Amino acid sequence: MTAIAEPPLPAAKLGPTPSDPLRASILEAASKPREQSTTIPAAAYTDPGFHEFENQEIFRKEWISLCHVSQIPNPGDFVRVDLCGEPMLVVRSKDMSIKVLSRTCRHRGMDLMPSGFGHPDEGNKRVILCPYHLWSYDLDGKLVGAPEMHKADGFDRSEVCLHRFRSESGKVSSS
Ligand code: FES
Repeated sequence: MTAIAEPPLPAAKLGPTPSDPLRASILEAASKPREQSTTIPAAAYTDPGFHEFENQEIFRKEWISLCHVSQIPNPGDFVRVDLCGEPMLVVRSKDMSIKVLSRTCRHRGMDLMPSGFGHPDEGNKRVILCPYHLWSYDLDGKLVGAPEMHKADGFDRSEVCLHRFRSESGKVSSS
């Protein structure tokens, strides 16, 4: 069983293509008979243009496996994921459903669990707390706390929720 998410953003109509020399090297490596197999060029792992090509043509077009459901067996269990520049959180809700939430705070856009702040990649939380101005969200992404916002006219926290990515969990077949 694997939790998967839909591509985070629509793919560009015409994605970038890898540089011609790199593409030629990859095609050459791929066209060799098995006895002459070799690795693809190292630049395929380091070339920013090729990385963007993969993002546009593969990762933004296909469903992507984010984690194994056994990693989040209990309510509040989460896995932190960064995919195509999108900060995400795969979380087990109280009703045992799995949600894939954006980690972008709905207040000022802070990453709710930014790298370099000691956040583990996996763990358990009762609430998701923004480190900037302490807005807090429940395991479904609903805003449950917003300090000082009760003074703001017309602010209704029940209307605020972290963005959710469409996701499913199920068996992944290799056939
Ligand atoms: S940016 Fe998250 S509470 Fe302000």
